[in-house]
Amino acid sequence: MGTGTAISVFVIIISVGVHQYNPFLIPTLLGKGLGYTRVAHRLFTDAFDKATNYLYTNTGIDLRYEREDEFYSKQKPEFQSPAKMHKSYAKLLLTKQELKQYDGTEGSKGLYVAILGSVFDVSAGKDHYGPGCSYHFFTGIDGSRAFVSGDFSETGLTDDLSGLSNKDIKGLWKWVEFYKNDYKYVGKVIGKFYDSKGRKTRDLEDFYSRLKEAEKEEALEDNEKKKYPPCNVEWKKDKGTRVWCTPNSGGISRHWAGVPRKLHEPGTKNSRCACVEPKTAVEDPNLNEYPGCNPGSDSCWIKDSDKK
Ligand code: HEM
Repeated sequence: MGTGTAISVFVIIISVGVHQYNPFLIPTLLGKGLGYTRVAHRLFTDAFDKATNYLYTNTGIDLRYEREDEFYSKQKPEFQSPAKMHKSYAKLLLTKQELKQYDGTEGSKGLYVAILGSVFDVSAGKDHYGPGCSYHFFTGIDGSRAFVSGDFSETGLTDDLSGLSNKDIKGLWKWVEFYKNDYKYVGKVIGKFYDSKGRKTRDLEDFYSRLKEAEKEEALEDNEKKKYPPCNVEWKKDKGTRVWCTPNSGGISRHWAGVPRKLHEPGTKNSRCACVEPKTAVEDPNLNEYPGCNPGSDSCWIKDSDKK
């Protein structure tokens, strides 16, 4: 969205904000004036919806949240059903119990997935999430941990993130971004990540601090990969492991291929195979030649004992 469009969208939000106890007032009045109540209503509520989603996605600002029962009781009769809910710009605040009612089974209120306390309407992906489908277990709950652990058991499907690595935190965030991009955001779950007023909890603040750390680490790793691109690797039952360098190995395009070296990761016992330009190979004490491999060769067979 361009800056101009964003500014107009913000103006709409501010002008509507003052009428927040009756979100349909402006569209209805304008619509009556124009003689197109429903059309005007739809146009405006869709615009509010887009604006609030834009704000949430880009700034994290949430304009307005309401408990489910209060929300429905305030709506005009024709909008008092979950199916019509998405027409409004207001967002739901659901308890875990209420969220359970959105698992897509017969008689349920809809098909929702929650991740990191944010709730998304996944009815557009009912082939993945509907009853009997592969990812049905994610519906009606916040199973954040399972998105990175791959443990889809009842105990694995939890919003408890304790003990996850920074890489997992980053992985989880990628899923959040996926849902923000592909599905409609509908509200928040009260509990682990949001309190009963929809405010961020300490757990969510902690998550964002971890995410910053993870992003810094990732940037350092990316820089290191550019400096020392990873080697290609193959394994053959009878011959063992071969590492070799090409101008694209490790997904890093460059004008040189380099020679394989064992790169020790400082402060750890870990090492990996890096492609280095022959002159750099002698300068860095963390780089070691592979035993039995010609130092000028772009390919080396390595013994299992030399891999670590
Ligand atoms: C941590 C492990 C995994 C998680 C959390 C996960 C999660 C998901 C989710 C949420 C979707 C639905 C995406 C959407 O809304 O469009 C999906 C789709 C899919 N996943 Fe996974 N998945 C995992 C592992 C795997 C693995 C190991 C495979 C393959 C062996 C796989 C194959 C697929 C396929 C093929 C689809 C698309 C299904 C289709 O188009 O019908 N997933 N996955």
